[in-house]
Amino acid sequence: MKITVTVIKADIGSIGGHICPSRRLLARVAEYVADQSSGLIIDSHVGCTGDDIAILFSHQQGISSEKVHKLAWDAFVAGTETAKEQGLYGAGQDLLKDAFSGNVKGMGPAVAELEFEERPNEPFLLFAADKTDPGAYNLPLYLSFADPMHNSGLILSPSMNRGFTFAIMDVSHTEADRVIELNAPEELYDIAALLRDPERFVVESVRSRNNGEVAASISTTRLHNIAGKYTGKDDPVMLVRVQGAFPATGEVLSPFSIGHYVAGFMRGSHTGPLMPVKKSTPTSFFDGPPIVSCLAFCVHQGKFTEAVDAFDHPYWDHIRDKVSRKATEIRRQGFFGSAMLPYSELEYGGIVEKMKRIEQGFVDRKTTELVEH
Ligand code: F6R
Ligand code: MG
Ligand code: MG
Repeated sequence: MKITVTVIKADIGSIGGHICPSRRLLARVAEYVADQSSGLIIDSHVGCTGDDIAILFSHQQGISSEKVHKLAWDAFVAGTETAKEQGLYGAGQDLLKDAFSGNVKGMGPAVAELEFEERPNEPFLLFAADKTDPGAYNLPLYLSFADPMHNSGLILSPSMNRGFTFAIMDVSHTEADRVIELNAPEELYDIAALLRDPERFVVESVRSRNNGEVAASISTTRLHNIAGKYTGKDDPVMLVRVQGAFPATGEVLSPFSIGHYVAGFMRGSHTGPLMPVKKSTPTSFFDGPPIVSCLAFCVHQGKFTEAVDAFDHPYWDHIRDKVSRKATEIRRQGFFGSAMLPYSELEYGGIVEKMKRIEQGFVDRKTTELVEH
């Protein structure tokens, strides 16, 4: 049976700042999806990470289905009404256009989709991150699909012996989707050369070279590029098929033990370590730290099992402690140097005005003055 798994997420309002949606808001989105989805959707799941709500669908409408995208958009519009009624902060924040036009891409919400012939058992992972951007997944994807230090299956399993193809998007190119496909292991150094710059180059999908099937899909939205100004960080979602010809679940989770530094954190303008968290975790310290949740499912004939919370395990408590220490440490240097993102990535326009004003105060010192001093 050929099915599509689609996840669409948006920040449409939260309690107490950019922290967490209300229970009523989540319930409203879930209720809207349940009411409107009959005949279109096989199954769905609604959850939250930080201030973002993610709707997961299974269906047979294919990738970029207008009907499925519209259902998600309408659910977020309905949720926004509730968010406004409750006076939630940032109600409707990620709905950047007034009316739906064919596809949520370019309208604010983030989307990741996988279409495949269902295996007899089809396990997959849904990742949702808050207070960071899509490049945050570059390093974990590189390590779990191309590095035997995390993926022992690259050594041990004949079904992964040919490696994987990475489709990488240049997200600074806004006129059209600009993508390159590179093969691991032969082109590892080229892949690394691009992925080292996660604000510009983002893994869009990964495909098995053994069976040609899609393994992973990542949202590549840059809200900054859509709106031309700060509208919140892009808070990416990702779907990863696991086991068999794909990495094992634990091999995909393994790189998240690093707590690698990503862009985002307070005001989308800082560097912070990515903390693997349990589902529905709000953000806190310095509007962060950047967080990522992971729900594991099996899908069978389009029906989802209940979700298992992959980072809800004592092992990850130890990682969370380490990440808290890393977050505290980098925050000790405040605005200085690499603790804050470069000028091009700062998410607030205020600094542009400030720099213009300061610029006027600079004077070119004359060579003669230099000699006199
Ligand atoms: C980062 C984020 C928050 C806000 C901050 C200020 O992605 O959502 O850190 O940037 O709380 O929020 P505003 O500008 O809405 O007052
Ligand atoms: Mg927000
Ligand atoms: Mg968010």
